[in-house]
Amino acid sequence: MGGIPAPTTMQAMVLTIEDLRRQSRRRLPRAVFDFIDGAAEDELTLRRNREAFERAALVPRVLVDVHEVDLATTVLGQRLAAPLLLAPTGLCGMATSCGEIPAARAAVAAGVAFTASCMSSVTLEEIAGRVPGEHWFQLYVWRDRAITRSLVERAAAAGYRVLVVTVDTPVLGRRERDLRNGATIPPRITVRNALDTLRRPRWLLAMARGPRVTFANVSGDAPAGGVRPFALSPYVNGLFDPAVTWDDLDWLRGLWRGPLVVKGVLSTEDARLAADHGADAIVVSNHGGRQLDGAPATLDALPAIADRVGGRLEILLDGGVRRGADVARALALGARACMIGRPYLYGLAAGGEAGVARVIEILTAELRRVLALLGCTRVEDVGPACVRLDRR
Ligand code: FNR
Repeated sequence: MGGIPAPTTMQAMVLTIEDLRRQSRRRLPRAVFDFIDGAAEDELTLRRNREAFERAALVPRVLVDVHEVDLATTVLGQRLAAPLLLAPTGLCGMATSCGEIPAARAAVAAGVAFTASCMSSVTLEEIAGRVPGEHWFQLYVWRDRAITRSLVERAAAAGYRVLVVTVDTPVLGRRERDLRNGATIPPRITVRNALDTLRRPRWLLAMARGPRVTFANVSGDAPAGGVRPFALSPYVNGLFDPAVTWDDLDWLRGLWRGPLVVKGVLSTEDARLAADHGADAIVVSNHGGRQLDGAPATLDALPAIADRVGGRLEILLDGGVRRGADVARALALGARACMIGRPYLYGLAAGGEAGVARVIEILTAELRRVLALLGCTRVEDVGPACVRLDRR
């Protein structure tokens, strides 16, 4: 791949994101792998995200000089080496100890943006302090608005550039793999999972050496002071406000001076409302299929949304991006860039910072080749003519 050898910590040949997924499955206890890999209920939307990409045929143009392909772009005025961002994912520390730090480092080194989740396992200040860069910060709205406000103020003080408000989680989706596995935070060894966990000594050792996995930004609010392992769903449902409305977005718009992004939009009406309420960008996202099972694939939702609000705000897309070709498909249908979630968590689990670097390298090398084969030399050249949507 592009003459860059796979990092030595990753033994088998790593050519694709799926290779890294398989490696992470071998490295992680089952409950941790399932927490990352799983989605809500029947995982219909998880599969739909992939199927939509697979259905969108790419239409090459030939005899175009593509000896130089430039992937550079800007998102909300921020220069990126490629149209790629790391999505906010809570508890990267489950994949590898203090995982936000190596993930952010790999993103900065590759010239793409890192989004810190408010549910990170390392505080937002520590991420910004240890990894200088133009990071984004993602927020959920707490029932306790004082906590919400303080997170926004802390993110501003720590120098985060963009605030991403995730709006698709009024209640937590039901992730049945987690329920069946009895998953807790932090993961604990039980009679049922002892064998499986002890067969992952590398992960166990890293966990034993590192700090306890918890929601570092708000650890004082964890049940029983964060001392006992707890299940995600009752914890989150007790903290996040199910009564959040557009009025709260107005409130946040007033608090945050920088660019504001609304993440988790799938309807054209909500896209319009986001623009009306002052969002600078939206992420067309179904939370990687982890929230409303049965929600449409993001690529299927994108064209109508781009049609409605493409001229008013920037549009990002996530959910199921596993190939550079998927990024090209999203660009063709109106996205400015894509976010990736699970892929970089697989990379983290497989090889820490080098694993995330590898994920970004694989996707950008694939995108570069796809652009050349499409007859495009710049990301702006990728337009609707590059894809043909097959009718189902
Ligand atoms: C997430 N996602 C997420 N989103 C968010 O806004 N805040 C968060 O804290 C999290 N946490 C989180 C944890 C894990 C383990 C996963 C897999 C995902 C959703 C994430 O930002 C993104 O929307 C999806 O991951 C995109 O889909 P793919 O790339 O994982 O298919």
